Amino acid sequence: MLPSGRVDQPPKIDCIETLPIPNVPDRLKIMSESPAAIRETALPLPLVARGKVRDVYETPNGLLIVATDRLSAFDVVFDDPIPLKGEVLTRLSVWWFEQTRGLVGNHLVSDHPEVDLGLLQKFPELRGRCILGRRAEVLPVECVVRGYLEGSAWVQYRDSGLVCGVPLPPGLRRRQRLDHPIFTPTTKAAAGHDLPMTFAEVVEVIGLEAAEFVRKTSVDLYRFAHDLLLPKGIVLSDTKFEFGRVGDEIILVDEILTPDSSRFWEADTYVDGADARSFDKQYVRDYVESIGWDKRPPAPRLPREVIQGTTRRYTEILELIAGIKIVNREEDVS
Ligand SMILES: Nc1ncnc2c1ncn2[C@@H]1O[C@H](COP(=O)(O)OP(=O)(O)O)[C@@H](O)[C@H]1O
Ligand SMILES: [Mg+2]
Repeated sequence: MLPSGRVDQPPKIDCIETLPIPNVPDRLKIMSESPAAIRETALPLPLVARGKVRDVYETPNGLLIVATDRLSAFDVVFDDPIPLKGEVLTRLSVWWFEQTRGLVGNHLVSDHPEVDLGLLQKFPELRGRCILGRRAEVLPVECVVRGYLEGSAWVQYRDSGLVCGVPLPPGLRRRQRLDHPIFTPTTKAAAGHDLPMTFAEVVEVIGLEAAEFVRKTSVDLYRFAHDLLLPKGIVLSDTKFEFGRVGDEIILVDEILTPDSSRFWEADTYVDGADARSFDKQYVRDYVESIGWDKRPPAPRLPREVIQGTTRRYTEILELIAGIKIVNREEDVS
């Protein structure tokens, strides 16, 4: 169980505005009233699940999915929430759900259920961090796509020349761009670490038709996002999708193309095989590795500057991708 409730953080960031970019709905031009970081919610609705990041509730019209500010790295949830993280994840996922609707259906029913359900008055911290989603039977496969050789794929390749059972050409360097994006699925472990799966294993678990559908759709989504982001100065190294069944249809669920589910690099600082500045959790992973954490619970506490640096990276990537700017009023005034 997670320790209780709302954690007081300095009430720093308190308004949101959008840049004049097409496709950003007007309703995003609202004042945010969620200055404090939220570690856990306790709403008067039946709780369906508490994931590492999201609290999921049942409503008569679908699932109320609330992205909290919890941070997990190496599959361990940290004590320190990251202010604005949940709001960034929600706004960015909503933006991508709208961009990718032509490629595949998704679970998004409403991006402001907290308003429709009349929850805001009592729980103002919910604003901007909730969606209403169609309830799906989630497929037990994490659909990872990689265009670059990094993370666990790099480790598998270095040790065996294979990634998820597929041989890659010899002599590749870490973070090198691959000739074409590859599908590297993993298990969706209820607890602990996800394990690599071969395509044959995916077929065994969800059937051939579904396996081929999620493989093709995941690669198409990766290519679409990669090509959309490069002109914005962002390299999408790899990302993870979750799909679910609703009747005969397979749709995207959970979150998409966020800094929790993706590796984003700053294109200006990306040099083949060398380092690149990240807009994702790599910053936190680097910090906890630098202090020698063994990656077993409990996670270490995070210094204030690491928390602030993480908020900065998450809000920066939201602005770069979707043109949605979350303004820190204190900094603005100074
Ligand atoms: N439309 C949906 N229908 C059913 N379950 C969903 C849907 N969207 C997301 N979920 C599930 O809700 C949970 C969201 O919590 P999250 O913190 O993202 O989980 P995780 O710890 O797996 O990352 C996940 O288990 C996810 O699979
Ligand atoms: Mg998730």
